[in-house]
Amino acid sequence: GFMREIMGLNVLEQRIREKLNIDDVIIVPGNSDEYEWVKQEMGKVCISHLKKIVKNHSIIAVTGGTTMSAVADVMTPLGNNIDVLFLPARGGIGEKVENQASGIVAEMAEKARGDYRLLYVPDPLSEVAYQTLINEPSIKNVLDQIKTADVVIHGIGDALTMAKRRKTSNETLRELAVKKAASEAFGYYFDQEGNIVHKVRTVGIQLEDLSAIGNVITVAGGKSKAEAIISYFKQGRSNLLITDEAAAIQVLRG
Ligand code: BG6
Repeated sequence: GFMREIMGLNVLEQRIREKLNIDDVIIVPGNSDEYEWVKQEMGKVCISHLKKIVKNHSIIAVTGGTTMSAVADVMTPLGNNIDVLFLPARGGIGEKVENQASGIVAEMAEKARGDYRLLYVPDPLSEVAYQTLINEPSIKNVLDQIKTADVVIHGIGDALTMAKRRKTSNETLRELAVKKAASEAFGYYFDQEGNIVHKVRTVGIQLEDLSAIGNVITVAGGKSKAEAIISYFKQGRSNLLITDEAAAIQVLRG
């Protein structure tokens, strides 16, 4: 539209597409580090996009975080006679309850008048508990549905910010610092080259599953996340990045 031309957002989107090598990028004005409503603007863009891609019975897997929570805040029905299923993308990864995917999918489902399931798994898991849980029928059922998701919506975090926000041990915090972790997504931590340097062991979507998902939507903004966004997209696969102007400008400087 006209406003987007004036603000140069279309040009910015093109440059981000090229720099990060992503098929599609949509940028909203503002800086979500400063204003919470900018996250909701990214959320509205995400919902308009969902309306274009979902079909009846589509399965949408969602991560946790404050950005996904803002997407849930502005969720609406996704179309006439469109009944979708929201699932948490992964089991708990140490987030506070308000940032957990479970509450977010419940809110999204209510507002979209869809359905949701939860993953009842503690976090982080021991190897023994992990092996037992993934074979538990009620959990296995949800896990199988997650692997067949039509859409995955996820956030990206700054590695150390995320590690501190979660119940990460001092030992792991030190390891992340030594290995120069820069970004985090899905409970995986990446360095500036996009190598995985740490992973929270839990059930649900694993990074290698993403290539089989038809629509991966990344929502991450704020100037403070620029390094993290660059790091994640060294290896990370996404069909659409929804971000804000402040993050985009900083990414181009970096
Ligand atoms: C987590 C997601 O819950 O939120 C991560 O699992 C993401 O993928 C993080 O990095 C982002 O959090 P926020 O609050 O910055 O949106």
